[in-house]
Amino acid sequence: MRSLIVGTGSYSPEKVLTNADLEKIVDTNDQWIVERTGIRERHVAAESEATSDLAYAAAVKALEMAKVAPEDVDLIIVGTVTPDMSFPSTACLVQGRLGNKKAAAFDVSAACAGSLYALAVADRFVSTGMAKNALVIGADTLTRITDWTDRNTCILFGDGAGAMVLQPTDDPRRGILSVHLHADGSYGHILNMPGGGSRNPVSQKVIDERLPFIKMKGSEVYKVAVRALEEVCREALARNGVAASDLAQVIAHQANKRILDSTLHRLGVPEEKCWMNLEKYGNTSSASVPTTLDEANRAGRLRPGDALLMMAIGGGMAWGSALVRW
Ligand code: COA
Repeated sequence: MRSLIVGTGSYSPEKVLTNADLEKIVDTNDQWIVERTGIRERHVAAESEATSDLAYAAAVKALEMAKVAPEDVDLIIVGTVTPDMSFPSTACLVQGRLGNKKAAAFDVSAACAGSLYALAVADRFVSTGMAKNALVIGADTLTRITDWTDRNTCILFGDGAGAMVLQPTDDPRRGILSVHLHADGSYGHILNMPGGGSRNPVSQKVIDERLPFIKMKGSEVYKVAVRALEEVCREALARNGVAASDLAQVIAHQANKRILDSTLHRLGVPEEKCWMNLEKYGNTSSASVPTTLDEANRAGRLRPGDALLMMAIGGGMAWGSALVRW
């Protein structure tokens, strides 16, 4: 038995921060940001909004599309590195908002690859019969851990949430064919948030040293990302005997246009097959893949049986791919 994605949903906060707005905050300019990243604007959560609020809004839309009542969900997994609080998990908070009493609920932490990691876990539950209606959410409010004095990072990130509903299917032509996950912890230092956990608990000194914020060695991340994404995409294609030319659509983590262009070029996939939205959302971490999937889905770009390749990479470094017959 395979699992099939039967519903998608996404939510983007109302407030928009443009490159022109950023020019007033740090020493940068629209041209530099667009040329190096492709990003023009990003959405920022309202003061009253936390990650679980974004996650809930995306989940409701995905459940509506799937025609699944919230009380019938039996598994909720949220990929996030910006939970509302250390515990309860964001998944439990979403479950409470949904009024659901029976689902197992937990978060997974794989930064921008969080929703692919969550998808891999949910796929195992559904394909082995342990869950019948699984809700997979990627939700992050990276702007809450963004250092607005650091022009190297603050131009990149935005907030959002995306959700997918998985159900078992007997249809041999459709469903998630395989998910491939990898990590290399020796790269932990090139993209991290060193403060606010048990290593550097919050204190005035830790805040003054600006440790509870994202730190990134951009060019190193760039190099690892291009290599890892190509490898993990080739792994998914080879496992399933699918040629790059057979792909109908690529759904990729929207980190940076240059990373995506380079990865697509190496794979030999034309750019038009990759749904792009980073110019309006920036890098929304684990929200990126399910939000992009939802946009492509609602635009009618995905037809039953189409070969769909998903890919993501984030802090850890952790990365993955999935090959799906829609
Ligand atoms: N505006 C203007 N100039 C900036 C700037 C900004 N926002 N940020 C950095 N610069 C400057 C640097 O200070 C540097 O100046 P210098 O040469 O005088 O020292 C110059 O631009 C080049 O910086 P560099 O970091 O080498 O640029 P880059 O070409 O590597 O581009 C990134 C920077 C961040 C866009 C790029 O490295 C990248 O996209 N990395 C991957 C990041 C990512 O996707 N992370 C998330 C993965 S999930």
